[in-house]
Amino acid sequence: MIARLLACTALSLAVALPASAATDAEVIDLAAAQVRAKATVAQMQPAEKVVITHGIMPLPGGGPKVDIPKDAIVGAGYVSGIDRLGIPALRETDASLGVSWAGGARGDWSTALPSAVAQAASWNPALIQRGGAMIGAEARAKGFNVLLAGGVNLARDPRNGRTFEYFSEDPLLSGILAGAAIRGVQSNHIISTIKHFALNGQETARKYVDVQITPGAAHESDLLAFQIGIEQGQPGSVMCPYNRVHGSQACDSDWLLNKVLKQEWGYKGFVMSDWGAVPSIQTAINGLDHQSGEQLDPGVFFGSQLSAKAAADPVWRARLDDMNTRVLTAIYAAGLDKHPAPPGGAIDWDGHAAVAEETAKQGIVLLKNEGGALPLSKTVKSIAVIGGYADGGVLSGAGSSQVMGKGGPAAKLPVAGSGIWAGFISESYHRSSPMAAMKAQAPGATMLYRQGQYIKDAAELAARSEVAVVFATQWMTEGLDVPDLSLPRGQDALIEAVAAANPNTIVVLETGGPVKMPWLGKVKGVVEAWYSGARGGEAIASVLFGQTNPSGRLPVSFPADESQLPRPRLDGSDWVEPDFGGNPKNGKDQLKADYNVEGSDLGYRWFARTGKKPLFAFGHGLSYTNFSRTKPAIKGLSASIGVKNTGPREGAEVVQLYLVQRAGEAKRRLVGFGRIELAAGASGKVAMTIDPRLLADWKDGLWTMPGGDYVLATGSDAETLDTPVTLRMKARSWKN
Ligand code: GLC
Repeated sequence: MIARLLACTALSLAVALPASAATDAEVIDLAAAQVRAKATVAQMQPAEKVVITHGIMPLPGGGPKVDIPKDAIVGAGYVSGIDRLGIPALRETDASLGVSWAGGARGDWSTALPSAVAQAASWNPALIQRGGAMIGAEARAKGFNVLLAGGVNLARDPRNGRTFEYFSEDPLLSGILAGAAIRGVQSNHIISTIKHFALNGQETARKYVDVQITPGAAHESDLLAFQIGIEQGQPGSVMCPYNRVHGSQACDSDWLLNKVLKQEWGYKGFVMSDWGAVPSIQTAINGLDHQSGEQLDPGVFFGSQLSAKAAADPVWRARLDDMNTRVLTAIYAAGLDKHPAPPGGAIDWDGHAAVAEETAKQGIVLLKNEGGALPLSKTVKSIAVIGGYADGGVLSGAGSSQVMGKGGPAAKLPVAGSGIWAGFISESYHRSSPMAAMKAQAPGATMLYRQGQYIKDAAELAARSEVAVVFATQWMTEGLDVPDLSLPRGQDALIEAVAAANPNTIVVLETGGPVKMPWLGKVKGVVEAWYSGARGGEAIASVLFGQTNPSGRLPVSFPADESQLPRPRLDGSDWVEPDFGGNPKNGKDQLKADYNVEGSDLGYRWFARTGKKPLFAFGHGLSYTNFSRTKPAIKGLSASIGVKNTGPREGAEVVQLYLVQRAGEAKRRLVGFGRIELAAGASGKVAMTIDPRLLADWKDGLWTMPGGDYVLATGSDAETLDTPVTLRMKARSWKN
């Protein structure tokens, strides 16, 4: 039975932020819907039982040609309905950051949320729920009733090409934020997925990398993020990915899909495949319920072939009934039949842009601010604005999650020569110019722009300006990992030269994830703006000029360099061709990724275990004001921390509570967090309930906490901890 997770983040008493644990009204009820689903399946005729078990990708030019029904909408997926039984067709679109552009094939546009890692930097579940509600509303208005959102894979390797598309390296933060996003999406009476279940930790060679990890380490990290996200979001569907786990493709993994997801966790929705991730019909027995984008697979397994199996074998017949029951459970729970989503719905574009802008503002992280270089004065006389196409827009991530606003990209750099990815993948910038927004903040300032290809010219402009702001970009895409954490295209040299010409240099990073900063000591300020979405330019300018007090905290560690990582070189990167499909290359289709090196101690946990010092720690983020925290008052699993804004202006603090030692053994695990907004001089309390799974280890189906002393501490990041408190806890074991 999926137990409702204890609300393990804050109810901040000073500012009424809704608790992360959803109220019932916001969460669909899969268990209740299952009863009705079973009754419908009982009425199905044999031929009807292989209708909602598979679907196509209705995207012209997207892979092998397929007949696209006239009631399909160009996008990721289409699944026929069954009129006789009142079962609607499923129209599916990507993804977690908004309604995907699909290369412009529909000729429409959508509101782009900031990247998921940017959203996570807000540590604000209520805000992320609003973001999910916004993109779900746009999906619905365009006629889609399934949004392939809920990307929650842990940032186990910061070079992963989809780091931008996922929340964090921490399972608690990731799970709670994913649950909030899914609640938001499904509040529109459409189905959300949670993806990619599981251990989809890299893009290069994604179709055959074989992950090795013990069940215990998996349950304490990657799987826990999904477990919390499913508990709190109740997604109608779980998407399984391309990669292998313990030798089986994830969509063919009896362990992941049957044993963990359906038996241990009691999940009642349906498992859909990723597109082109189904190797055979046997996947149905191993827990797959729905074949997506079937034309991309070696065959359509979940149609007549499945019928034949069911006709001949009662085991397959029962399984087929269960597959239909699960798809229908999701349809009924989200209300797709009772609340049809016709295309042409109204969209509140301004209201949606405001959600994107607020999310971007709260996700921007002030990493460095030497001598109060920031915020910039509105009376500044001259600013050299350099790099990052900042005169035109802000960077976005590529792949199936690519969203694009009205008018398409402000700048689009093609990146692939041939194959179906060529027109689909590009380095694209949203039409939201940081420079234009900066001019609006300081209309009296002279601002001149240099793209930065000519370093000497850019440095000379910087030398003539009062301030230099360099925008540095790291583009990421699905299907390909970045080879290392350096800023590409010689941007490090550009920053060095500008900083040498003008010591009053600020760097604004627009990156998919962590990057190295060899120039850090030579610049005055560093702001991590990530991929900041439809109103990213306005959000960046608002923080630079102090209209917004930055409150973002890093949801991923920034390593000093790759040698600090569990795998200093990405496995197989020496022989895998960098293509976007992740297909076997050079006749090789065996690549093992041994996650047992770090086990569940990834990210900040790895740094704590190895004693290595990251460039910037998980949870780090500066403010234009200051806060003080009281020692946590902990009773049982309830913690309360007092916070005071001791600085000159309003701001938001993110209280982080870590387990630092358990029964004499060093540990580092985030066990609770809460965001609180306070006026200058004001005080408040952040209350949180600790999820005991973060205090326990998982083995053979049980969570086990040893008896003894548990040392917990708040911290301004995972490395900088306050005075700890010690609790004596009894040994206990439990299931889920
Ligand atoms: C992609 C992605 C998945 C997406 C699907 C449909 O390959 O892995 O996240 O939802 O295909 O576009």
